[in-house]
Amino acid sequence: MTMHAVDLIRKKRDGEEFTPEEIRFLVRGAAMETIPEEQLAAWLMAAFLRGLSLAEVDALTTAMKLSGEVFDPAPLGRFAVDKHSTGGVGDKTSLLVAPIAAAAGLVVPMISGRALGHTGGTLDKLECIPGYRTQLSLREMEQVLAKVGASIVGQTKSLVPADRVLYALRDRTSTVESPYLICASIMSKKLAAGLNGLVLDVKTGSGAFLRRKEDALFLAALMVETGERAGTRTAALLTNMEQPLGRFAGNWVEVQESLDLLSGRRHPLNEDLREVSLALAGWMIFLGDAAKTAAAGRQRAEDILESGQALRIFTDMVEAQGGDTSVFAEPEKFHRPAVRRDFLADRSGYLAHVDCTLVGWAVQRLGAGRERAGDPVFAHAGLEMHAKLGDKVKVGKPLCTLYADFDGRLTEPEILLRLALVIADEPTPAEPLIQDIITASNRKQYLEAARHP
Ligand code: URA
Repeated sequence: MTMHAVDLIRKKRDGEEFTPEEIRFLVRGAAMETIPEEQLAAWLMAAFLRGLSLAEVDALTTAMKLSGEVFDPAPLGRFAVDKHSTGGVGDKTSLLVAPIAAAAGLVVPMISGRALGHTGGTLDKLECIPGYRTQLSLREMEQVLAKVGASIVGQTKSLVPADRVLYALRDRTSTVESPYLICASIMSKKLAAGLNGLVLDVKTGSGAFLRRKEDALFLAALMVETGERAGTRTAALLTNMEQPLGRFAGNWVEVQESLDLLSGRRHPLNEDLREVSLALAGWMIFLGDAAKTAAAGRQRAEDILESGQALRIFTDMVEAQGGDTSVFAEPEKFHRPAVRRDFLADRSGYLAHVDCTLVGWAVQRLGAGRERAGDPVFAHAGLEMHAKLGDKVKVGKPLCTLYADFDGRLTEPEILLRLALVIADEPTPAEPLIQDIITASNRKQYLEAARHP
């Protein structure tokens, strides 16, 4: 029987469940642009309001994944793993975990994104390295993987074209923040890379897209369920995004901070970054079958980081993708913002609260992000934090240092930071860095506990 989009919109509007064929019809219509935008938009809003069953999310993810080209890592002869974050501020874990997992004998085909909203983008950071190419074909990515084991690239035109259409429509119709649609969007792209194992870093707290912990847990469990149904071993770590991760947030400054950790140069203000990265890499190594437990994987990850192997693989990957690694010799000398200004504490006390989303916006407005899609970003924009939540701070001393390409760029970030960084007489107790771990064995309990909407 012929299907009509209008009937499917009515069906979802009235709360009924779609068959996999009906979902395939809608996704094909989106990818091939044979269903008009107004009908796709109405269907998205019905799905947003009514929610989707687990079977529908599974069918939607698979149909989206198969809407374009898929990557097959089998010829590489090693298990393929990846890590995906739901987006954060100062989150540069990808630059650390990809080479660590590759050094453990796995391949890491990592398809990353650009700055989105208040969050930073891995591609924007890597493109600060002169010559680094993020737009590789799947064939070129395979060659880099065969040579060095890790490749961090951008999405190609032919990978999950249905998501490109649906995501742009969601952006324009206020239907982004649906756990079902987010799950299908993220997982279709991850599963199109043919992964054996996937670790999801689901952020929670003031800098996360989903601020409420129960929403983050539900999304995490939904993604684990979808990955496992597709035959990819999947786990999700719920991690704290109450403040920027590490010491720096921006573009080149984040590459510089990653190089520090890869070179064994630790700093008290980035121990959180090191810890989250080792936990994520440990899970990648475990899910990729290169360790018996996640704890053993974490130990392996730490040994690799300390040995300098991860730095060698990162350097090899950058060179294989056209980057000039001579700038790695003295990374702080390559950091050339036109202006630097300290942002001072206006009272003494403790750094008691950080609105991390506002800090993220401050970083983007310094020039690390873009106003419109396609705008250039400034490689040397960003900020350095001088205090973490709970630290004692003194009036007139720097809370952070801002970097930008011209003076006028600092005004708005300074206003945002004055609102974002709250100093009080008492410190507030610190939340744990890793708050929950959702795996194949406990996912059902999280799905049932947090039924949505
Ligand atoms: N990132 C994605 O790729 N898709 C979403 O829907 C949200 C974040």
